[in-house]
Amino acid sequence: MEADNLVQRLGIKHIGIIMDGNGRWAEKRGLPRKAGHPKGAEAFRRCLNSCVKLGIPCVTFYAFSTENWSRPKDEVDALMNLFLSFMDEMMKLSSKNIRLRFIGAREGIPEKILEKMEEAESRTVGNTGMWCCVAFNYGGKEEILHAAKKAMQMYKDDEIDSLDEEKFSSFLYTSGLPDVDLIIRPSGEQRLSNFLIWQAAYAEFVFMDVLWPDFSEADLIAALTEYGKRNRRFGGV
Ligand code: IPE
Ligand code: IPE
Ligand code: MG
Repeated sequence: MEADNLVQRLGIKHIGIIMDGNGRWAEKRGLPRKAGHPKGAEAFRRCLNSCVKLGIPCVTFYAFSTENWSRPKDEVDALMNLFLSFMDEMMKLSSKNIRLRFIGAREGIPEKILEKMEEAESRTVGNTGMWCCVAFNYGGKEEILHAAKKAMQMYKDDEIDSLDEEKFSSFLYTSGLPDVDLIIRPSGEQRLSNFLIWQAAYAEFVFMDVLWPDFSEADLIAALTEYGKRNRRFGGV
């Protein structure tokens, strides 16, 4: 399939990408696992540019899960330092007309990172282009629980008297964004790992053997092309 207008022809509104395989990429080269993460950051940069080029309206990248805190301290520290230094680059997204949103629990994120996240987000609020969401300290179960608590509080405060899917969705971190059409997971693993479990109710999944640091524009186009072969029925016939 031609890459030109591919996204428009497929009607894709939102894709999710699980950036997995950094550790194995490093281990394959005899390097410590944490050496894979800066390479993963380069792949993120590349992939974001490809998403802009292909005209994807919204993309969510899974960067760090609520479960990833359980990794060895030196790997978590390396990831936090990488994230902090990457924030300066995220600040520049505003010049590309990208709208940035971090999704996930804010509690538990080191203050220094949180400040930069909020600054980077606020710099892009006036933009009108592609949505780039970064799932950081994100867990789908935590997100649903957080939304449920918000709904309970609003009910108690007489701000809502009923709940439906649309209302509940508006309490999620992805409020206002369309559900994901496609989730791409490199690294060979075939699971969601707590990513967008509500929003992926009717998503198509493309699992790929490539490790995230090696993920290329050709891989992205291959995943989109595979999506184009699927028959989405949404329970109908
Ligand atoms: C993804 O790569 C990065 C994060 C989860 C932060 P991994 O570090 O999970 O790499 P593998 O899966 O162990 O190879
Ligand atoms: C999912 O990858 C989280 C991110 C890519 C940020 P993991 O490597 O943490 O997932 P599992 O442990 O293989 O399920
Ligand atoms: Mg992994």
